[in-house]
Amino acid sequence: MHKNLISIHDFSKEEILHILSVAREMEADKSQKLLEGKVVACIFFEPSTRTRLSFETAANRLGARVIGFSDVANTSISKGETLKDTIKMVSNYVDLIVMRHPLEGAARYASEVCDIPVVNAGDGANQHPSQTLLDLYTILETQGRLDDVSVNMVGDLKYGRTVHSLLQAMSHFSPRFCFTSPDELRMPEEYKEFLDRRGITYTETASLQEHLRDCDILYMTRVQQERFSDPMEYEKVKDVYRLERDMLEGVRPNMKILHPLPRVGEIADNVDDTPYAYYYKQAENGMYVRMAIIACLLGYR
Ligand code: CP
Repeated sequence: MHKNLISIHDFSKEEILHILSVAREMEADKSQKLLEGKVVACIFFEPSTRTRLSFETAANRLGARVIGFSDVANTSISKGETLKDTIKMVSNYVDLIVMRHPLEGAARYASEVCDIPVVNAGDGANQHPSQTLLDLYTILETQGRLDDVSVNMVGDLKYGRTVHSLLQAMSHFSPRFCFTSPDELRMPEEYKEFLDRRGITYTETASLQEHLRDCDILYMTRVQQERFSDPMEYEKVKDVYRLERDMLEGVRPNMKILHPLPRVGEIADNVDDTPYAYYYKQAENGMYVRMAIIACLLGYR
């Protein structure tokens, strides 16, 4: 098992399946005191609800204590302290660091300047590997398999780190992809070339209706205002998709709607009580998967 979780690309299919199997064990027994005496730091340079709180809960459920910050204004970074010095200091205090940062590559850099495990909780538009593992766990839970699943990714495919990580991880499992986005937010060429090299097929469309009825997983995403440098560009695309209950007529009976959350209007509330909505359980699964990630990186599984 790797020491760090920085990019899902670093993990083999076997390592991914191992973490998913440990997560199943964690879901069956939600309080295992494997980490008594250990301390985990959750340091978040960007806002978060699910990732930070589920990592903190995961560490607590495993018996570890948690320190950290969610607002850099209250740290010495606001006085000009560098990321390197911040990481070096925190790594002196704890056994594992969970870090979210707006800069792509920041988590990899952190892992290079300290000796303890680092988990990337999201670095800019690059990677969000713990989200990917919980997405895979949820796909397995809802479809009974990871192989040959048809995934329709919808929304901000340009800046969306969750879709980038998920696409790479799914490449182990012979998926079929549809990319639904406005022209401005299409899946970047590098990810499509990655799929081409692996012989994985995908279609692209701007119409949400076009492939609603031929997918097993509808992976909705938010158009992320914080990734746009030009506010006018955001205004043009922010309301491009809205999934409503009546659009779900005729979808596959096994189809599940996932969303990394938060949502800001792309899924109407009237979808929540359909049998297809699975995003709340998906977020709950994050806790079990993050328990597994921490246990595996610290060598307890
Ligand atoms: N899915 C996700 O990363 O949510 P948060 O930004 O709330 O952590």
